Amino acid sequence: MSHAQDGATIFKRCAACHLPTGAGVPGAFPPLKADVAALAGSPTGRRYLALVVIRGVSGPITVGGKPFRGTMPAQSGLNDEQVAAVLNHVLRGSAAKPFSAKEVAGFRAGSASLNSAAVARLRTSAAGK
Ligand code: HEC
Repeated sequence: MSHAQDGATIFKRCAACHLPTGAGVPGAFPPLKADVAALAGSPTGRRYLALVVIRGVSGPITVGGKPFRGTMPAQSGLNDEQVAAVLNHVLRGSAAKPFSAKEVAGFRAGSASLNSAAVARLRTSAAGK
């Protein structure tokens, strides 16, 4: 199975909340679109995206100008390659540099003490607000 197919397969578990299109549900599950592509353009944003999947995220966060105050559980059981594959699936069609398993491994290292609220604060610093 190619990595691209892997990403689509893994995304099925994400689609339960974010919908198969990634459009999300207002007030509950954020869209995985323009904001994710923008976050993937900075080192802090890339760390945030990887740790959202690895550690979970618990806002408040603002996505697409709309507030979200939910909790995404850590997506346990995904290895570095699978985290990279699913993020690359989300980013397909954008100009963002693809994630590699090695990059994800670097973000995972030392992240065990970060809880989902700390991950949300990474987004705030990545977005500069
Ligand atoms: C059980 C529901 C659920 C599942 C499953 C889930 N998420 Fe989430 N996700 C959320 C919620 C809720 C938030 C927003 C949390 C908040 O309000 O702070 C979120 C936030 C995010 C964000 C942050 C977006 C941004 O702009 O900051 C990303 C990226 C993301 N999810 C990707 C994924 C991926 C990839 C998967 C699958 C591997 C996944 N999610 C699975 C519920 C889920």
